[in-house]
Amino acid sequence: MTPAPSIPRPNHSRASSLERIPTYAPAAASAIDRTVPEPVAAEVLEEQTYFETNIEPSYLPEVRAKLRKFIRFHTERPDPRRIVLVTSGGTTVPLENNTVRFIDNFSAGTRGATSAEEFVDNGYAVVFLHRQFSLLPYSRHYSHTTNCFLDFLAVDSSSGQVVIDSAYQQEMKVVYQQYRKAMDENLILFVPFTTVNQYLFTLKLVSHELEVGAGALALFYLAAAVSDFFVPRSKISEHKIQSGSGGNSLVLDLDPVPKFLKRLVENWAPRAMIVSFKLETDETLLVGKARGALERYSHQLVIGNLLQTRKHTVLFVTKNDAKEYSITEQQEKEGVVIESVIVPKVIDAHSEWITGIQQHQQQ
Ligand code: PMT
Repeated sequence: MTPAPSIPRPNHSRASSLERIPTYAPAAASAIDRTVPEPVAAEVLEEQTYFETNIEPSYLPEVRAKLRKFIRFHTERPDPRRIVLVTSGGTTVPLENNTVRFIDNFSAGTRGATSAEEFVDNGYAVVFLHRQFSLLPYSRHYSHTTNCFLDFLAVDSSSGQVVIDSAYQQEMKVVYQQYRKAMDENLILFVPFTTVNQYLFTLKLVSHELEVGAGALALFYLAAAVSDFFVPRSKISEHKIQSGSGGNSLVLDLDPVPKFLKRLVENWAPRAMIVSFKLETDETLLVGKARGALERYSHQLVIGNLLQTRKHTVLFVTKNDAKEYSITEQQEKEGVVIESVIVPKVIDAHSEWITGIQQHQQQ
């Protein structure tokens, strides 16, 4: 079928409407004080307490079964494939068991979804642990954008059928082919979460399964923005908090979410390479905070980013080094993504890590 001609749209699409106003980015003056020291790393006792006193998501056995199959599919081949766990999006903190209200954060899942595509391009299989309804690899090009997906469509004048507008044919064909390949070759396992509790239980499960099934071939790329505080089971209200019950104010008593990164590095997946992210809004704090995380959790790499510049600049912080990587404004306009710089560098580090583990095992 001949593609429909591109239709000129003088200011009538969502691309030019009020949807473009960035209401998701409020004035920076309201930032919290990030100079406050980070909470300490969780040890064995915190792990036991958390996982014994909070309820495991009922669907976890299903995740375990699918995950095992996925890991076996990629590791039990003549040329075993590396597997990356990409965490993506923000976690919610429900204020009620029958949840009407919850606390959330800004993360849309752009970093995670874009990085997952880059990992697939570079031969990895991806376990994509993501906030449900946040951005997904490939479909991210057409969802959550200020352009409505309907703006990509047109009516073909000869057949009368709805088709892709010719202006987007080429770009969409490329994205579709990449998506098809990833699906047909079983290269991405989508594992969703919404709450911080679901995230933590699933992270622990995936870590154990990757440790057992993939060892050093596993890479952890923790781009999710995990809530720092939550309402534990012992304190959560079963039903909707009534607006009149607390007088004129609602006072929330939140517990800190245990920092399980140390447990992950030392116990859950000790042979895997772990990359964490650090988000700040004040650039004078970024290196110090990233280095602090590296010392606290003893993992291999922290990728620092600033809220304001995260789409074009990142900082790789290792034990001995801090290196900035960025893309230019021109590259950004041409559609280059910073993840196309980040991911190959992370893969190089993973290759070195695998060699190191193999040498260690031979000794
Ligand atoms: O999704 P986008 O809009 O593209 O935004 C991407 C991002 C800015 C959220 C991402 O690049 C990023 O920086 N994520 C980490 C945010 C952060 O500072 O997290 P943290 O300091 O709370 O945690 C440090 C690291 O430990 C993170 O890698 C986090 O995923 C991980 N973590 C934290 C706590 C916890 N309980 N479990 C974890 O795995």
